[in-house]
Amino acid sequence: MKRLLLTGAAGGLGSAMRGRLKGLAEIVRISDIVELGNLAAHEEAMLCDLGDRASVDRLVKDCDAIIHLGGISVEDKFSKIMNANLLGLYNLYEAARENGMPRILFASSNHTIGYYRQDEYLDQDVPLKPDGLYGVSKCFGEALARMYFEKFGQETALVRIGSCMEKPKNHRMLATWMSHDDFLAMIECIFRVPRLGCPVIWGCSNNDTRWWDNSHVSYLGWHPKDNAERFRAEIDAAVPRPKPDEVVAIYQGGPFVSDPIFAED
Ligand SMILES: NC(=O)c1ccc[n+]([C@@H]2O[C@H](COP(=O)([O-])OP(=O)(O)OC[C@H]3O[C@@H](n4cnc5c(N)ncnc54)[C@H](O)[C@@H]3O)[C@@H](O)[C@H]2O)c1
Repeated sequence: MKRLLLTGAAGGLGSAMRGRLKGLAEIVRISDIVELGNLAAHEEAMLCDLGDRASVDRLVKDCDAIIHLGGISVEDKFSKIMNANLLGLYNLYEAARENGMPRILFASSNHTIGYYRQDEYLDQDVPLKPDGLYGVSKCFGEALARMYFEKFGQETALVRIGSCMEKPKNHRMLATWMSHDDFLAMIECIFRVPRLGCPVIWGCSNNDTRWWDNSHVSYLGWHPKDNAERFRAEIDAAVPRPKPDEVVAIYQGGPFVSDPIFAED
């Protein structure tokens, strides 16, 4: 493809993935609301507030594919979530509709289903159980993407990311971790498969402890290779094991379940 858009490129995941996208497109258009640093030869940068419709229109123009990581990524005040994750997503889908409907990878989250217990094994059809306003905003994103698929044929991968980072940091992440290599392999599959549709994809590696069933997306040809289990001894040594009655040991959403509703100023 000629031009791939990466939103949220200055964030934790965007920074980690940015350099790895070189082989996917001639030009990677990186974007965020904050400065993006030095550009590689294959990159072009555009600052953009996702809540600003005209900016998002300019951002999406001439893009053949979109990896949408931008937005509020933790529990926060509703006004902040509303601008980036609700209005921002509507702006992105309207801009895509007016610009040839490039395929979208939407970074959804395990916090759409955070109130399921860790002893439950979920498929893609389980009713949503978000664990906060952030999780609710990702449910909105999934529903919005689904509507644009049914109404217009806009394809989106709804990736419910677990914990995508260099390595798992605690016992819960032994189940939710997804390595950067496995995420890159997933991205390649999403943009190469001839027909994507609008599937939910659980974003975790091939962890011995897993809570999510991805068998419905075998047509993608994605075979995650990493396994958080190799970090178990390191985590056991460094992190106190939570007591069985602590929320972090009960719910799939872990600590987000305990977050309050944050007051506006
Ligand atoms: N990292 C994970 O393990 C994980 C897990 C579940 C879901 N996700 C999702 O993946 C995406 C990336 O996660 P992350 O960990 O890198 O988060 P992050 O918070 O580090 O990065 C998000 C980026 O979005 C940008 N942003 C915020 N508001 C914006 C706005 N109004 N306009 C434009 N840009 C804006 C921020 O500046 C930031 O650079 C997020 O959508 C997050 O919800 C990540």
